[in-house]
Amino acid sequence: MDVSGIQNPLDVTAAIKKLAREKKALILAHNYQIAEVQDIADHTGDSLELARIAAKNDADMIVFCGVYFMAESASILSPEKKVIIPDPEAGCPMADMVGPEDVMEMKAIHPDAQVVTYINSSAAVKACSDVICTSSNALKIVERIDADKIIFLPDKNLGSYVQRFTKKTIIPGKGFCPTHEKFTREDLIAVKRMHPDALVMVHPECRPEVVDMADKVFSTGQMVEFAARTGVKKIIVGTETGLIHKLSSVAPEIEFIPATGSFICPNMKKINLDVLHTSLIEEQTVVTVDPLVREGAGRALERMLELSY
Ligand code: 13P
Ligand code: SF4
Repeated sequence: MDVSGIQNPLDVTAAIKKLAREKKALILAHNYQIAEVQDIADHTGDSLELARIAAKNDADMIVFCGVYFMAESASILSPEKKVIIPDPEAGCPMADMVGPEDVMEMKAIHPDAQVVTYINSSAAVKACSDVICTSSNALKIVERIDADKIIFLPDKNLGSYVQRFTKKTIIPGKGFCPTHEKFTREDLIAVKRMHPDALVMVHPECRPEVVDMADKVFSTGQMVEFAARTGVKKIIVGTETGLIHKLSSVAPEIEFIPATGSFICPNMKKINLDVLHTSLIEEQTVVTVDPLVREGAGRALERMLELSY
């Protein structure tokens, strides 16, 4: 709820911009955020793009419109800044599927392996990892890290996608994204039947049998880059539907077809302009990370940034 009582969306937009200017606050929004939030943000992007911006900017405060692990990563990378998430309940279920005790257990079973952890994880899990990756640099990180055996957590689907391109042994976790996992091969067959002339691009969090049928497998940022340069006229988008707003803004001439109407991450939809406005007024909720955890997680995140040149 907007505590200011402003009703008109144009007034809310103006009020957010004014407050952000006064407080030297940088508004970052993930590509899955609703259109209004993407439009008011200083930057939109995928997890890697936003982590890079969070690590290097001259704002006093970062307002992170995304899910909790993203804001937490921003806070770890910019410990001197106040990092705010407009709704602290916006979590990522995949990030909750693996705990630090699971990492320690896998390390004990595979002492010669290095741990590559997907950024969709808690700070405590990051702190027990050797390096972090995102969907756009996972293969690069696996190839560049000095080990032939890799414990890859938590996403089993991203792990199996990386395994297709590396000779290294990937020991995947058991986690998955409920939003991407729901999208089946049958759903893809159905949408392809309706649009046989469309190119299919999917996120690597999709099931392996869905990935098998795709023309392109990209992070959300890579999908945006591809749309901006391709000559293709019609694209089936196999990821969260919020991305279609960004895709249409960079390539208005392309017809983007949601792979299924239910491709929605409920947590990414918790933030709207009123929630954002209230969070800027109250400077809530501040993301904090235990200093010891931050040290380990920061090392693993910085290592990712160094290795993903
Ligand atoms: P990207 O880094 O590709 O934007 O993915 C984030 C995510 O949570 C996908 O579900
Ligand atoms: Fe997490 Fe899936 Fe939502 Fe991405 S889409 S934030 S992986 S639940």
